Amino acid sequence: MNDLMDKIISLAKRRGFIFPGSEIYGGLANSWDYGPLGVELKNNIKQEWWKWFVQRRSDMVGIDTALIMNPKVWEASGHTKEFTDPLVECKACHQRFRADQVGNTCPNCQGSFTKAQQFNLLFKTFLGPVEDSSAVVYLRGELAQAMFVNFKTVLGTTRKRLPFGIAAQGKVFRNEITPGNFIFRTREFDLMEFEYFVEEKEWEKWFEYWHKEMHAWLAHLGVKKTNLYDHEIPDGERAHYSRRTIDIEYEYPFGRKELYGIAYRYDFDLNRHQEKSGQDLQYSDPETGRKFLPHTVEPTFGVDRSALVALLEAYHEEDAPTGDDDSEKRVVLKFPKWLAPIKVAVLPLSKKENLSAKAKEVYELVRKDFVCEYDETQSIGKRYRRQDEIGTPYCVTVDFESLDDNKVTVRDRDTMKQERIALSSINDYLKNKLS
Ligand code: GAP
Repeated sequence: MNDLMDKIISLAKRRGFIFPGSEIYGGLANSWDYGPLGVELKNNIKQEWWKWFVQRRSDMVGIDTALIMNPKVWEASGHTKEFTDPLVECKACHQRFRADQVGNTCPNCQGSFTKAQQFNLLFKTFLGPVEDSSAVVYLRGELAQAMFVNFKTVLGTTRKRLPFGIAAQGKVFRNEITPGNFIFRTREFDLMEFEYFVEEKEWEKWFEYWHKEMHAWLAHLGVKKTNLYDHEIPDGERAHYSRRTIDIEYEYPFGRKELYGIAYRYDFDLNRHQEKSGQDLQYSDPETGRKFLPHTVEPTFGVDRSALVALLEAYHEEDAPTGDDDSEKRVVLKFPKWLAPIKVAVLPLSKKENLSAKAKEVYELVRKDFVCEYDETQSIGKRYRRQDEIGTPYCVTVDFESLDDNKVTVRDRDTMKQERIALSSINDYLKNKLS
């Protein structure tokens, strides 16, 4: 594991962003829990994405659907057959690997491998009290199927016209053969995706459009363009439902790998569901009366990979500022402000009683509008460092002068410049800075 990944993993654990799941029982292979700061970070990503791709648009609607669907959905969509990775097993130590991720010999013991077999990634479970084959159901492996099976209902209730999209966010499950690299590859993860329904003749135009929008979103997330690569997936390597896929890859410390993807699913899914369910899923053009199955362009965004790249991009180490009482390097998470888990910290200059009381008043005022933290332990320098390390954009310091002039000092995380602001306008000042 690379140095930067080690630093991110250690900071994430130390400060309560992300830590190993079930840790008191020795953990559970590559399961991770989001702590108080992590959940804020993750929610910020999901909420901003929802605003960006759903609420600010008139051609998009959202749904939130059951995780467990009728198993016929996954048969029709091809997932029970095709949602597989090639699996090999070491003949000596019996460890299992994804054939496309290892060389010809076992990385543990140099043993030779068995022939690759296709391993299905859908998690199986049973619905109800009887554990027999008729009760088998699957935890969803992608969100997309909910958009396809609900296509007609959403169309009927919203009266949308093409082109339009249906979006969703939520947990999905994949029984990955080799999870790893922190939250990069796990067996349950959060996904945000939408199916954009278009006329067949327009798919290329919309594919280009959404590809650009995905890059615009990544810039908004604070990801440098130079760390991103568009990887056109060649014939024979795409998912079974796709006629064109571009993976947007990121230069992670552990190599260049997929971050997001965009696929042209043509009318594959609606066609399959129409055939297998026997229901008419066609769209009827209100002007011409022509009935047809729309084609689909699907942009997909992993939430956990978004959080990982946001952390990697935000992480900065700087020399200790001159005059700082802490000679250690200054670690700063330079998140875009909308993404920062805590927006404002309120800090009394010292723990003296009258200062604490005033600072608590300020805290109550500021936290009406912002996610806010109060901290009065240790020196002010150390407290600034603690806030820098979690990416808090503004620290509001209450000092002895504040008691007389009702003003506070606002310190900017990135410039470290300080400004004296009247308490009567502090929330407006911060609102302006944070918008
Ligand atoms: N509906 C299309 C679909 O699910 P995918 O490329 O299989 O496409 C979508 O997955 C996104 O989910 C990926 O681009 C990636 O961001 C994320 N992802 C995939 N597998 C993951 C895993 N095991 N752990 C965390 N994120 C994952």
